[in-house]
Amino acid sequence: MIVCICNNVSDRKIRQAVDLGMSSMTELRDNLGVAACCGKCHTCAKNVLRTCLENRTPATLRNVHELVFQPNIQAA
Ligand code: FES
Repeated sequence: MIVCICNNVSDRKIRQAVDLGMSSMTELRDNLGVAACCGKCHTCAKNVLRTCLENRTPATLRNVHELVFQPNIQAA
């Protein structure tokens, strides 16, 4: 479903952005252009964002965990 007609942003694109770590409308606006023109999509985009954040998969959380808690690699 297209959420932002002005910038051709779909709910799928927002979901992918959340999977990459975005968690705010400011980040979506700055990176995808959501609600950056007429703003009519803001409420819908915010609802999609909220749903994505609430339904993040364990795999996504595991990936974040792996990124955050990687053991230090000593330089040779
Ligand atoms: S529909 Fe998203 S800025 Fe216009």
